Formats: sequence, C-alpha cells, structure tokens
Amino acid sequence: MIMRNSERVKVKNLLESGTVGAEVAAMGWVRTKRGNKSITFIALNDGSTINSIQVVFDMAVFSEDQLKNVATGACIAVRGKLVESPGSGQRVEIQASYLEVLGEADSATYPLQKKGHSMEFLREIAHLRPRTNTFGAVLRIRHALAFAIHKYFNDRGFIYLHTPIITGSDAEGAGAMFRVTTLDPNNLPRTPEGKIDWSEDFFGKEAKLTVSGQLEAELGAMALSEVYTFGPTFRAENSNTPRHLAEFWMIEPEMAFYDIQDNMDLAEDFLKYLIRYVLTSCADDLEFLKKMYDDELVSRLQLVVDNKFERLTYTRAVEILEKANQKWEFPVFWGADLQSEHERYLVEKHFSKPVILTDYPKEIKAFYMKQNDDGKTVRAMDVLFPKIGEIIGGSQREENYQKLLSRITELGVPEKDVWWYLDTRKFGTAPHSGFGLGFERLVLFVTGMSNIRDVIPFPRTPKNCEF
Ligand code: 4AD
Ligand code: MG
Repeated sequence: MIMRNSERVKVKNLLESGTVGAEVAAMGWVRTKRGNKSITFIALNDGSTINSIQVVFDMAVFSEDQLKNVATGACIAVRGKLVESPGSGQRVEIQASYLEVLGEADSATYPLQKKGHSMEFLREIAHLRPRTNTFGAVLRIRHALAFAIHKYFNDRGFIYLHTPIITGSDAEGAGAMFRVTTLDPNNLPRTPEGKIDWSEDFFGKEAKLTVSGQLEAELGAMALSEVYTFGPTFRAENSNTPRHLAEFWMIEPEMAFYDIQDNMDLAEDFLKYLIRYVLTSCADDLEFLKKMYDDELVSRLQLVVDNKFERLTYTRAVEILEKANQKWEFPVFWGADLQSEHERYLVEKHFSKPVILTDYPKEIKAFYMKQNDDGKTVRAMDVLFPKIGEIIGGSQREENYQKLLSRITELGVPEKDVWWYLDTRKFGTAPHSGFGLGFERLVLFVTGMSNIRDVIPFPRTPKNCEF
C-alpha cells in the first residue's frame, strides 16, 4: 500500500523515543548510501533533527534494481522494524521491509553529491542548501529563537503589534530606503515644473519600504503600555559586509514608563533568556556547529549568559579607545561614530563580556532620542557583543513636545511627515523607551556562523536577489 503521511513518524521521534520492535514508517531525503551485494545502508534525514536514521536494506529482500535509483538527494518512504542499532552513534535503526521512491535525484547533476562545499558555493544554491546539515541546524536554531522571542514577550504581557512594511514617512533616518511604486518608469507623470508627479502614484504620494517599525510602535506603546514588533525591515545601503543585509528582521519592543535603566535591564534579560533557551533546546544543533566551525561557540554563549553586561558611557568608551595601544582603520575621537573594530575591542579585549554604551553625542543619533541636560548627548544605548559588535540599538525617547519639535526643525525633518508622531507628545505623553534587536545578528551570534548571509534562508544583498 502506498505510504501516507498519517503513518509516518518523524526521524527525531524515532531516534529519541521509538519503541524497539515496533513496525514504523519514515519519509525523508537520502544523505548517504553505502553497502555491498548483500546489504545497503541509507542515512535518511527529514529535517526534524540534525541526526539521520540508518535504514538497512537486506539485499535478499530487495533487488538491486529497486535501490538503483536511490541516490544521495533522493526522497524516499520506508516501512520496517525499528531495531537496536549495533553501530555506535545511534540508538536504533530501521530494518526495511518496504521502499517507495518519491523523487529521484540524478547523481550526475545533484549539486550536493559530496560533503564539504564552501559557504560561498552554497549561497549560489540557496534553493537546496537547507538540505545540508549546517543549514538544517541554522534554520532550526533560527526558528527556536523566533519562537522564544514571542514566548518571552507574551509571558510578560507585551502586545505583538504589526507595524506597516510600506511607509509614507522616511523620518527615522536609519538608512537609505527602497521605493515602492506602481508608476511606469518609462512613462512617468510630470508636474508642470517637470518633476515626477507622485500624486499619480498608487498611494497618492511617495512610498518606501520601512527601515524600522519603531515610530509606529511608539504609537502602540502610548495606548497598550508594552508592545513589540517582529518583522522585516529594509535598508538600501550598499554595505557589502558580513553583518549587513538589505532585508533583515528586527524585533522592536517599545515600553511606556520605562527609562533608559529599565530599557537596559530589559535588553540584557531578553538576550540572556534567548541564549539560554537555545542552549537548552537546541543542544544537538549547537554541538554540531561547534564541532564543525567554532570550538568556542558554546563557551561564548555561556559567557553572555553568566556575566553582567558592562555599562558605561560613550565618553568613557572613547577615553578607553584613545588610550588603547591599537592601530585603528577608522580614527577614534569624541564625536566619531564607533566602528565595529572599536566595539569589538571593548567587548573582546578590554572587558571580555558584552557591553552597553550609553549617552552618545546627539549628532550621531536619531532625532527622537531623549536629550540629556548637558546639551551634547542623548539617552541612547547600544548593546555590543563579541564577534558581532552592535547587536541592539535603542534609547529613551524624547517625550517633551517642544524639545522634540525643536530637534526635528534643527534636523530639517518635514513636520508634515511626522505630525502624527508629534501628536503623541501633545496628548497624554509619557516617558518611554525601546530598542531594536537585529534578528540575523542574533542568529549569527548564536550559531557562530561568520557571514550574516548564511543565517537567513534567502539573503538580500547588493546585486543578489535570485531566489
Ligand atoms: O540601530 P538601528 O538602526 O536602530 C533602529 O532602527 C531603531 N529604530 C531601533 C529602535 O530603537 N526601535 O538598528 C537596530 C539593529 C542594529 O543594532 C542591528 O542589530 C540591526 O538592527 N541592523 C541590521 N542587521 C542586519 N543588516 C543591516 N543592514 C542592519 N542594520 C541594523
Ligand atoms: Mg544602531
């Protein structure tokens, strides 16, 4: 009888808790096939775990013809008896009695025939790379982190707010934006002055992809107290670095009544919770990544969980960097935007633990950050991590209408773009704070991968939009 999903048991469940002696069924993709005239061994994986289950074919029962087209990459369904495995490394294996080939994979052309491909090559076959052990592990950890993020906030009464992806405001200034339009580029409507007439466009005005959900999240916090966003954000910068994507996911909690101390406490507790969650629920995948790529992976995660983050001002950090006996690619001076070489020096060399920097010069931070009394700095906070540099950026927000308005005017942000944002400061304003966690930077840190393109299923970077 043709096999159906209802009788299938996931490989993870078979390996961990399948009853020895039971008749079982499994489906999945062939990782390896080996054997001789009398016996064939297939490693079968269905993505439920890093581990494959061994399926043993007695060639007295199966013909060579039946197994001929079962090569690496093929998809099969098997029935058989779950028996204790004589081989080391696995508790049980399947003694096959039935085989169905769901999809063949031609061994002459299947790109994942051999192990040990480079990350660069795998990026070119992003449609198939989830079949590798590495990407299976990364994608399961990514999922676990996403789940833990929702769980963390839900357990604490935060409301998940869906902020828009298409936006009519580009006030945030967090980065260059992608335009959204239905106008025909070969036939643009013009105003009498010869400019593009955006009033003819779909939204009747210019529209862009959002760089952040923060401004809208603030509107939510001013009614629901504690909210968070978790969605895609888009930045059109031409930054070809191992830490930047043009499309990335961001988690942005925004909380009424929190000052910057509360904000830092939340950020630290949140990050530690997420890392602890992965340490306990993704042990197999972490162990694999540690073994294959990064011997210090688990100890680095433990370092974050076990240590109180060092908190200091930007000004103090610049003093430390100026005194450091180190050659910088980018010069350090008060007022300079810190680069990842500076951030990593503080975290990896000076303090040997995560660092939170606060009170940055207002010139290098966004208009909405609360101004300090010194007239020079704002209540910003950046969380810096080993190997990553900035993982979180946030601040206490300016809740005073006049101060916010004067900052907006100073920076030339058109009031017509942010009138709705200013309104919250007119009607029942409250002290409030929030931050943004770059989801892929977190996954990068937790998996120990070295390029952010390898922790998102389909990376979007300059000149790369194939899949
Ligand atoms: O520091 P950023 O630009 O802050 C904001 O967008 C604020 N609106 C957040 C807030 O206060 N609600 O970005 C936040 C984080 C960074 O710390 C970094 O982890 C990540 O987003 N990030 C990127 N990740 C991948 N690719 C990029 N191009 C990124 N730009 C920022
Ligand atoms: Mg930032």
